[in-house]
Amino acid sequence: MNKNHQVKSKTLKIVVLSGAGLSAESGLSTFRDPSGVWTKYDLNDVATHKGYATAPELVHSFYNDSRKALQTVQPNAAHYALAKLGMGCELSIITQNVDDLHERAGSQNLLHMHGELVSALCDHCGLRWPSPERLSAEDTCSHCGNRTVRPDVVWFGEMPYHLDEIEYHLSHADLFAAIGTSGEVSPANSFVEQARLSGAATVELNLERTAISYVFDRKINGLATEIVPQWVEEILSL
Ligand code: OAD
Repeated sequence: MNKNHQVKSKTLKIVVLSGAGLSAESGLSTFRDPSGVWTKYDLNDVATHKGYATAPELVHSFYNDSRKALQTVQPNAAHYALAKLGMGCELSIITQNVDDLHERAGSQNLLHMHGELVSALCDHCGLRWPSPERLSAEDTCSHCGNRTVRPDVVWFGEMPYHLDEIEYHLSHADLFAAIGTSGEVSPANSFVEQARLSGAATVELNLERTAISYVFDRKINGLATEIVPQWVEEILSL
């Protein structure tokens, strides 16, 4: 989008980066809020390869519980609004979320940069398959036979997925929007700078200001289920 909003929405290339705040009102915990996941678990225990090597059953139990919780929640108005946006303009969604609420709301062109709870991965041979509800350290990979089955999620210290595609989308964006993410985790927190350098207008939609709010052209603060549908209607009315 040029910064005077003179381009019709249909011709806009929009890139959305979503985070845990988008799914909070569906009932999934964020990570760094006062009752967030990292106040109950040490991320070194459950979200690093070292933690998995040390206590795989603890790691499996953590992600098994998260996968189970997914079955009890539904997409919210913000997920549905983004699916509607995708029907009205060229939209790519990069999500840090490992839930499947974007898909269930009907969004396409979705990149799960931190992986997906609904997918299992063999840590040895790289085979991927739809995850059963529970994974265990006793499970063996159907391809290589090793007991190296893990959730297909990206842990701290590992390379996020789809970085080349993400780079492409950021460098072609007219408008970049970060929604419900604290901006605390790299490399996602640098995407706004990349998009800006490529000439995109930038907007942050979040409950509150974040550590990187100052980088954005525009800030919209409030609940995702309120501010995202309003913002989508604004874009679609251009
Ligand atoms: P965080 O928990 O760090 O941040 C969530 C953000 O959402 C915060 O800035 C909240 O203010 C905001 N928020 C909370 N409720 C909201 C609501 N109803 N509407 C709008 N905003 C709301 O989550 P992420 O930024 O997604 O990675 O975290 C990034 C990564 O850190 C995650 O993907 C995960 C985590 O550790 C890995 O595990 C690798």
